[in-house]
Amino acid sequence: MKKIMTNELVSPRRLQWLHEKRVEEADNLTRYVYNQCNMIGGGLVNVRLASQHYAGNVIRRHLHYSNRLVFNARHFGKGREDGGPGFEEVEHIDAIFTVLRYLFAFSISDFVPCLRGLDLDGHKKGLKKATKLIMKYHNPLIEDRIQQWKNGKRTHEEDLLDDIMIATMDNPSNAFEWRLAEMLNQSETLRKATEELDSVVGKKRYVQESDIPKLNYLKTCIREVFRLHPIDDVNPIHLSMEDTFVSNYLIPKDSHVMLMRQEIGQNPRIWEESLKFKPERHLQKNNDNNVFKNLSLNDPSLKLFMFSAGRRVCPGIILGSKMTIMLFARMLHGFEWRVPPNETTIDLSESERGTTKAKPLVAHAMPRLPAEVYQIS
Ligand code: HEM
Repeated sequence: MKKIMTNELVSPRRLQWLHEKRVEEADNLTRYVYNQCNMIGGGLVNVRLASQHYAGNVIRRHLHYSNRLVFNARHFGKGREDGGPGFEEVEHIDAIFTVLRYLFAFSISDFVPCLRGLDLDGHKKGLKKATKLIMKYHNPLIEDRIQQWKNGKRTHEEDLLDDIMIATMDNPSNAFEWRLAEMLNQSETLRKATEELDSVVGKKRYVQESDIPKLNYLKTCIREVFRLHPIDDVNPIHLSMEDTFVSNYLIPKDSHVMLMRQEIGQNPRIWEESLKFKPERHLQKNNDNNVFKNLSLNDPSLKLFMFSAGRRVCPGIILGSKMTIMLFARMLHGFEWRVPPNETTIDLSESERGTTKAKPLVAHAMPRLPAEVYQIS
């Protein structure tokens, strides 16, 4: 599956070919937020909703246009005039995030299988309900593909839909929501990121993927969010197939290996002032002590547990990086963000037994580019 994915969905050639589709989705996101700003009494934007739907639409587009994969629609249902998600899209994405919550949740029956039938923590019931909803949307597409096999139009099975949708949507949206929340309470980093965007892009056009190599401060901010707020504390559990040594530790065959991402990111033995939001710590110098030209989000040394490493490394590093950086860049370059009028600071509590933000972030947005720039899309 990973091979098909690497060759078909996220190969450099495919990503280049799908560039236009990603731009359309970035424009769509910007138009949606712009329309929210212009609503009466408005400017209030549900950042979680906007970011999750941007990520969902980008990946649906990639699946749709990658012709050997299943998906024939950017939207489920009609979508909305203002570029926002329709009822069906909200239902679909909510169900995917519910599955993700259960995927990462601790369940006693994973370790004591004889308890599975009792469903003591209710995970099985919740997961069944969410899966049923996802299937409501995915099955017609899969049925359509089966018909194509029967008609002889297709000859092999490559339905990667569920895995990819689930693997893709959570990280970029969670990072942006946290980043904006932190930044609204700590406006100096916001000012610096916006200044960088203005100096690289100016104010006469939208920021584009071609600007990414020059947006190093923005990328340090993203790395810092992933360090402090990974989408979930526990990386998907790995099982050792044989006795093995990692950094002088013996990992016996059949062990469940659980890596705690937040513990790695916040480890004071690795990071100075580890709980502080300090994007500058990621700026890399080259031999002449100049700032490294094109900082990457990936860190194979695993001091920053973003895409993992080794055999199970995330196959979507390039696409995931592009999606995340563009989400941040469009939102910060296109809009001035403030704490909602009736609040003084943003509540940064984490969800119970999780690392996502407890309350969805709602923030006040104002357009900061000339009106004609927003009319182009
Ligand atoms: C910022 C965005 C993303 C981040 C931070 C991220 C991070 C990760 C991490 C930490 C893993 C677990 C690796 C392990 O088990 O050790 C993973 C797995 C995976 N990711 Fe991503 N990912 C991102 C975007 C994407 C995208 C865009 C795709 C697809 C196009 C994708 C597809 C997958 C798949 C299929 C796996 C499972 C790989 C396996 O089990 O061998 N990811 N990702």
